[in-house]
Amino acid sequence: MTTAYTDFDTVATPVGVYPPQQDSYLLVEAMEQAGLAPGSRVADLCTGSGVVAVAAAAAGAAEVTAFDICSNAVQYARASASAAGMDVSVHRGSWARAVEFGPYDLVLANPPYVPHPPLDDTSVIPSTAGPAQAWNAGTDGRLVLDPLCAAAPLLLDEGGTMLIVHSECSNVQQTLRGLRVHGMRAEVVAQQVIPFGPVMTARAQWLMQSGLLAPGARCERIVVIRADAP
Ligand SMILES: C[S@@+](CC[C@H](N)C(=O)[O-])C[C@H]1O[C@@H](n2cnc3c(N)ncnc32)[C@H](O)[C@@H]1O
Repeated sequence: MTTAYTDFDTVATPVGVYPPQQDSYLLVEAMEQAGLAPGSRVADLCTGSGVVAVAAAAAGAAEVTAFDICSNAVQYARASASAAGMDVSVHRGSWARAVEFGPYDLVLANPPYVPHPPLDDTSVIPSTAGPAQAWNAGTDGRLVLDPLCAAAPLLLDEGGTMLIVHSECSNVQQTLRGLRVHGMRAEVVAQQVIPFGPVMTARAQWLMQSGLLAPGARCERIVVIRADAP
């Protein structure tokens, strides 16, 4: 599924909570296309505003459990689920805690995945981009992605599916390899080319110098990777 870039109305979230953006909506769209939510036990690992968790509940999931390390996000996601009339359990803590509550039929993740330059640049990035912990993911962008790939067999029930969204800058091939090494079938099922947001704009030059982005790029490709447990 290749989605054309479409502008969207930004959902206002309080400062400190990642506002739903293209990556959020691409993940929701891929979940809906996969048709796996109805009747499923679902985990949303880095829930932020709860937009993905609420969409899973609205799509007919039997049970939705969400996690975030940020207390503002947890509070907002709970309120948002409640306002939508959806039953979502939101836990404050690392995504890794999901293993305690699993296994799941469907795991959804929009984790932090933006590579972070050695010199901290977060002060020049506007607060509309959400909190730094929503995007900063180490110098290669894989701080969460690598452990997430390794945890797939623990999170997923037999025949379960994980959908992960991230940018081309954080090495799509490495995610596919990391999932396959851990026994999953893995493929890219959705992609979208989007203009740089404020974080990518601030980091584009460093990303190009580091070879994580093609020279002269003005857009980035985001992908949804689907992993299926045997
Ligand atoms: C890119 S945002 C995604 C938010 C939401 N799922 C969406 O799609 O709009 C990433 C979220 O992960 C949270 N986060 C960062 N590290 C985490 C961790 N180790 N465990 C759980 N959540 C984490 C951040 O607080 C942030 O809310």
